[in-house]
Amino acid sequence: MLKGKKILVGVTAGIAAYKVANLVRLFIKKGAEIKVVMTPDAQTFVSPHTLSVLSKNKVEIDFFSQEKEWNNHVHIAMWADAFVIAPCTANTIAKMASGVCDNLLLTTYLSARCKVYVAPAMDVDMYHHPTSQSNLKKIVSFGNVIIPPETGELASGLHGEGRMAEPENIVLFLEKGFETHGSFKGKKVLITAGPTYEEIDPVRFIGNRSTGKMGIALANAFAHEGADVTLVLGPTHLSPNNTVTCIRVESSNEMYEHCTNLFKSTDVAIMSAAVADYKAAEYSHQKIKKKEANLKLNLTKNIDILAELGKQKKKQCLVGFALETENVIEYAKQKIKAKNLDFIVANSLQDSGAGFAMDTNKISIIDNKGKVFDYGLKSKEDVAKDILNFTLSYLKK
Ligand SMILES: Cc1cc2nc3c(=O)[nH]c(=O)nc-3n(C[C@H](O)[C@H](O)[C@H](O)COP(=O)(O)O)c2cc1C
Repeated sequence: MLKGKKILVGVTAGIAAYKVANLVRLFIKKGAEIKVVMTPDAQTFVSPHTLSVLSKNKVEIDFFSQEKEWNNHVHIAMWADAFVIAPCTANTIAKMASGVCDNLLLTTYLSARCKVYVAPAMDVDMYHHPTSQSNLKKIVSFGNVIIPPETGELASGLHGEGRMAEPENIVLFLEKGFETHGSFKGKKVLITAGPTYEEIDPVRFIGNRSTGKMGIALANAFAHEGADVTLVLGPTHLSPNNTVTCIRVESSNEMYEHCTNLFKSTDVAIMSAAVADYKAAEYSHQKIKKKEANLKLNLTKNIDILAELGKQKKKQCLVGFALETENVIEYAKQKIKAKNLDFIVANSLQDSGAGFAMDTNKISIIDNKGKVFDYGLKSKEDVAKDILNFTLSYLKK
């Protein structure tokens, strides 16, 4: 799995840095190509010479070096198929969460387009501190993958969670990350996700509570299966994995433009975005002032992206999403016909654990013959896999 893969290993100043020599050795044994980038403080924990000999490459630490004028963090980042930061200190995690890039490792991280794996390593109390936990959540929301620390004896003499995952387990994690069954290899997949914002005036907009979590999970799942995925994403702080091409948009009009341009060359289109049905009939260039007790806002219908794609459809598999508060299945069935869909994914806001901003979802898939397939409450990642598998068997029919 790792043969010929270019893996960039980032080392920060934690006591577990001594284990990185073994990690590099294991990667090399698996046939991977390794480069190492360290924070300046990490050198006090493990010798760059050791890592240079084991990785068969010069270890990069400083922005400026004697041989070259400067170390190009963009080149280092672009070289990598995967970037694993192990051990990753609380300090570096905090900097990654806020975009600080005051050393070569952090600047490289910000330039990386590949998947980034983070193996936190710190004392139990540092790990459980609310700041560390909140920073970890934040970097996960950016699409980074955490290799969970293990529980055991710590360098401080305390016992608890915070030990860096053993090098063998880090290798397994990366192997799993590169694993692709390739069931969508060569297929172009278009996915929409998130809300849309329809401007009313320079400060106000019509929006909704969607975060894009479900569509992002779908994009990641299809990319993991080898598809060439483009995600047209409405305003959200979340991001897909780096293997997904992400086009960020604000309004439904922008989403529509991108979708119609991409649809011709698409094999599978899944429209999971919560597109606003209406927009302000007239945009006010000045902030609307508070005057009368009641304000009437004139709204006009947005273009129905799904219905438009349904009209343009040739060989594409077109999938819609239906989020309802009542008569879910009935409305979903009507939508399939009206919008020329192959199948629809329906969920109800009345099911607990389903809907906006949740980590879980409960769906039913209804095909174009009206057959209903019910699924249980699952994580959005597992729901994405169910939709992917349904798509796969639908395409094989
Ligand atoms: C002996 C020693 C061990 C340390 N071990 C850890 C550790 O395991 N995890 C951690 O987050 N910080 C640890 N620190 C603190 C970091 O070294 C410190 O926050 C440093 O600024 C991190 O720099 P870096 O993130 O740029 O590599 C340790 C400090 C010392 C002196």
